Amino acid sequence: MEAARHTTDIVLGIETSCDETAVAVYDGTRGLRAHALHSQAAMHAEYGGVVPELAARDHIGRIQPLLTAALDEAGLGIEDITALAYTAGPGLIGALLVGASFASGLAAALDLPLIPVHHLEGHLLAPMLEQDRPEFPFVALLVSGGHTLLVEVAGVGRYKILGETLDDAAGEAFDKTAKLLGLAYPGGPELAKLARQGHDGRFRFKRPMTDRPGLDFSFSGIKTAVATTLPAGADEQTRADLARAFEEAVTETLSIKCRRALQQTGHSRLVVAGGVGANRRLRERLAVETRANNWQLYFPQTQFCTDNAAMIAYAGWARLADAQPAASPILARARWPLSELAAPGQAA
Ligand code: KG4
Ligand code: ZN
Repeated sequence: MEAARHTTDIVLGIETSCDETAVAVYDGTRGLRAHALHSQAAMHAEYGGVVPELAARDHIGRIQPLLTAALDEAGLGIEDITALAYTAGPGLIGALLVGASFASGLAAALDLPLIPVHHLEGHLLAPMLEQDRPEFPFVALLVSGGHTLLVEVAGVGRYKILGETLDDAAGEAFDKTAKLLGLAYPGGPELAKLARQGHDGRFRFKRPMTDRPGLDFSFSGIKTAVATTLPAGADEQTRADLARAFEEAVTETLSIKCRRALQQTGHSRLVVAGGVGANRRLRERLAVETRANNWQLYFPQTQFCTDNAAMIAYAGWARLADAQPAASPILARARWPLSELAAPGQAA
């Protein structure tokens, strides 16, 4: 039976979609047993962004030691694993192929079922790793370097896109604006740090697309506004004031759209996932908004907001019904719309 299988399975999750190599173990009985991660951020910093070929090559050297570290942390041997989950997309194709082929090789050697996981489903389900986890249905704000989506989540694989960005993702806007301000890659957390030294009110940028109905976003205009406002040779305080105005504009825009999405759907639970979910100002704003309306707010731990394998192992466990035989073809998709997913066991 499906339920019995769920409780006893121990799923190894592998994440290599971008510049983090990660391996984790999720146990249906005991929850998350281990997670190991290596970030390539320092390696890509000198280029000001992720270099896809370097990312793929680095994953190759990191993945086996991370597997050993995760199993050691869990106190398990590879023979204790009962299924393998890997991020099959969306992401950088060369990077994805490393995790996908590693997982396929292991599955073939150990004769274990394989579960290809959608990276964004991993982010959406990351709050399920917490003790205080949301019940379905909820509205999820998914804000990462590659995506900005508002999603109505009725259950695993039952997703309705309510709104999305028409241009830059929120994290991408943070990263590009950080670069304009002379900050190191990855710029989002650096910009947030600089914004803390900024004064309120010296600059103010529009909250794009909040003056009309709808739940779509546009962030490239705020980035352009910073570029045109930034004086040549700006001093540290001016850069901090601009960082602050940028962060205020992005986080208030996100907060306004979350309120609208909850009002529109009638749901009372808001889940925030993805790298920008680590942003402190965004968390403060959403906490105020949800408290005022008697809604409940759920975040993954900061370490599970950004890319990690714990969320992939969990999503794999939630999708055991979709497990494929060990000898299945390797699946890796650079593009993979979330709307193509179906509930577990109901793939088209
Ligand atoms: O989810 P994630 O690790 O990778 C993707 O799947 O894209 O998100 C990374 C993004 C980057 O754009 C990074 O700058 C942003 O999340 N980010 C932040 C913060 N921490 C990470 N942006 C704003 N404030 C932060 N504290
Ligand atoms: Zn991600």
